[in-house]
Amino acid sequence: DGQSIEELFETKQGITYKYCYSRYSSFVYDFNILPGYIDFAVTSVSLDTALTRNITLKAPLVSSPMDTVTEAEMAIAMALHGGMGIVHANFPSKEDQAKEVNKVKRYKQGFITHPQCITTDSTVADLMDIKAKKGFTGTPVTATGKYRSKLLGLITSRDVDFIPQSRWATTRISEVMVPRDRLIIGEESLTLKDAYDILENEKKGKLPIINANGELVSLIARTDLKKAREFPNASYDSMGQLRVGAAVSTRETAKDSIKLLAEAGVDVLVIDSSNGSSKYQVELVRWIKENYPNGPDVICGNVVTKQQAKLLIDNGADGLRIGMGSGSICITQEVMAVGRAQGTAVYEVASYARSRNVPVLADGGIRDVGYITKALSLGASAVMMGGLLAGTNEAPGEYFWGANGVRLKKYRGMGSIDAMEAHSSSQDRYFTASDEQVKVAQGVSATMLDRGSIHKFVPYLVRGIQHGLQDIGVHSIKELQEGAQKGTVRFEKRSPNAQLEGGVHSLHSVTSSHHL
Ligand code: XMP
Repeated sequence: DGQSIEELFETKQGITYKYCYSRYSSFVYDFNILPGYIDFAVTSVSLDTALTRNITLKAPLVSSPMDTVTEAEMAIAMALHGGMGIVHANFPSKEDQAKEVNKVKRYKQGFITHPQCITTDSTVADLMDIKAKKGFTGTPVTATGKYRSKLLGLITSRDVDFIPQSRWATTRISEVMVPRDRLIIGEESLTLKDAYDILENEKKGKLPIINANGELVSLIARTDLKKAREFPNASYDSMGQLRVGAAVSTRETAKDSIKLLAEAGVDVLVIDSSNGSSKYQVELVRWIKENYPNGPDVICGNVVTKQQAKLLIDNGADGLRIGMGSGSICITQEVMAVGRAQGTAVYEVASYARSRNVPVLADGGIRDVGYITKALSLGASAVMMGGLLAGTNEAPGEYFWGANGVRLKKYRGMGSIDAMEAHSSSQDRYFTASDEQVKVAQGVSATMLDRGSIHKFVPYLVRGIQHGLQDIGVHSIKELQEGAQKGTVRFEKRSPNAQLEGGVHSLHSVTSSHHL
């Protein structure tokens, strides 16, 4: 039954993962994968994959280098779950970006190295505000309200649970905190194992760690310690540190950033450009390969055609990033009239890159698990996601409440006026001159619904992909892709009516979402 992958793409019409009608999309075909035979458990499905020529991951999931998606916290969480985060380049300085990379490389499981603190003069209302925005429950009290300052106490929900809301604004933290002399505290030299024993014996939730001057240097949370044992798929380098990537522009200044990023131990550089086939990118990848022959690996892009892919592979790319105008916040195809349907772009570029042994990353347009499985079936080794992850706790920025009581986070395209005005590096992605008076936006600013923590959301994605592969009857990404090439994994183009039938339909209202 169905079609082989070649037959699916025979028409030379743009095909995407799933048709969606919106102001920003035109009509394109989409497809289904036909079911296969199941005689194995969902948990036995392997998602091992290559991100670049030299780096493999246990989950095919990468977070976008966007300033509302990936900084250290996101990159740490993604790597713990077997994927990877690419730190964006839209910081006030190149040092700031390298610092984020450093935080990921120095991350010690279980230690919160930049804990959110509060001062004694703050009120319970301030604490509740922190709790609402960041989701923390135990907050150290320090002299300046920041970490690396004298520890004065600790305040947990237990200390404030019985204070009526009417008194939040007038009750000072100093009145209700557990003061320093009544706290169980650890020294800097403490191992994670000792910390765990202390927390267990003392039945405490949080253990502040101080240095010789009595300053708070980190915090250990019992819940994190429990989690620390639960990351069998984490992406580690040969030194046992979490893996992380960073975006760089094609400007001359990128060379200074690359030096700092390499010193910080970055594993992958992503040359961030909406159109990777440029003289600037070719020169930069050649320069990196000459000056850093032993790594980091370089992912070039973005590309959507075989010709673009060939150019970048010929010049040293270790991986390619595919997509132009398919991102949720993208208006490139509208404004520039340039781009390609993402399904076709992934299929065409992946087919070519496979012949050169270079893995490809399908970037943009991933709206749920099924889209990931489809991207993998078309030949992508992994997917890159922006919007899908922007509403999580680990994305930069704070939550706020929307009009009808929904919790939201901001998400913006790196080619949006907003992002371009924040710092100049995001202009580089779109070849905007820094002294340019006329700015042409290629993205929009938006809000995303709260999706909870990456620690829940990424395991959901992983298990969802495993279910997809099980339904197709394949045990691994490798088997999926080989099956597609051999013609044993079958596809079928969907008509507009079939697309409507395949979505949620004919309901008065939907009362539960299918994830979280
Ligand atoms: P999703 O669909 O995951 O897409 O939100 C994320 C990807 O979109 C790209 N990106 C942009 N593309 N204008 C664009 O045309 C923009 O302003 C913009 N910002 C990000 C980028 O490839 C990202 O990974």
